[in-house]
Amino acid sequence: MNIQWYPGHMTKARREMEADVRIVDMVIELLDARAPMASGNPEIRRLGQGKERVIVLNKSDLADAATTAAWIRCFQAEGAHCIAMDARGSGNRKLLMRTIEAAAAAKRERDKKRGILNRPVRAMVAGIPNVGKSTLINMLSGRSSAKTGNKPGVTRGNQWIRFQQSIELLDTPGILWPKFEDPAIGEKIAFLGSVNEMIVDKTELAVTLLAFLETNGKLEGAKERYQLKGTETAAEMLTEIARLRGCLMAGGEPDTEKAAGIVINEFRSGALGRISLESPEGEAHGTQNTEG
Ligand code: G4P
Repeated sequence: MNIQWYPGHMTKARREMEADVRIVDMVIELLDARAPMASGNPEIRRLGQGKERVIVLNKSDLADAATTAAWIRCFQAEGAHCIAMDARGSGNRKLLMRTIEAAAAAKRERDKKRGILNRPVRAMVAGIPNVGKSTLINMLSGRSSAKTGNKPGVTRGNQWIRFQQSIELLDTPGILWPKFEDPAIGEKIAFLGSVNEMIVDKTELAVTLLAFLETNGKLEGAKERYQLKGTETAAEMLTEIARLRGCLMAGGEPDTEKAAGIVINEFRSGALGRISLESPEGEAHGTQNTEG
């Protein structure tokens, strides 16, 4: 599938982030633990050059644990501070705070030498849409006012949130980049729910997802859940799923679009298992390119 989505407000948001990044000490980049490469916006990476880099592999509750651990080692080897999280619970809050403090240590030391005391560390929180930025900020700051919701592309404007007197977070809107060079990147980002649903053909997306899972040996959960034989094509699987779930149109024909919605939602919620779409061994790590 060729999926491209780069609405104008993202260009504006990126420009604002370019201006704001000058005054931050670190960039906390949220990646989706299920696809840390595809969900890594090369523009955010470029923006954060010269800053401390904290990578949060969020939604790790939905990813394969061993694969996530391998990704953490990979990013740490690149010099980033990297942790895995489920931003919906507060269980990882301490770990995240410790990680931010570790990334801030050099800056705090510099400040101390210059006689500057108690200057807060500033961190920009960035990531593609729907990766969990608002959820993470809410969890970290204990606020419930940073809006969350499954609406990729809804800009909130850059907003500072200060907490514990020592940390200031800059909330930024989810941004993508002008062109997905590799169609597989656009597909994975669409599987994750980070592009506007309106631009994607749901049925085609679900068929592409089922085909991807099958090709990559990750169809077990779906097979079990939807009682698939495993011998069908991806399009046949979707028809089977429509029948099984009673998604029928007037006249009794299987409603594959409705079934597609079920498959996509169940993948996103983890009902098809904890599935990593990428592993470090399978990716040309750190080489993702950008244009413009
Ligand atoms: P964004 O600001 O980056 O756009 O993302 P946001 O926090 O709005 O989160 C997008 C969706 O992802 C939300 O679900 C949120 O609950 C969910 N989410 C965030 N972090 C995690 C995580 O670590 N694990 C899992 N499993 N889900 C996570 P939603 O259905 O759109 O909204 P809600 O009904 O949960 O509020």
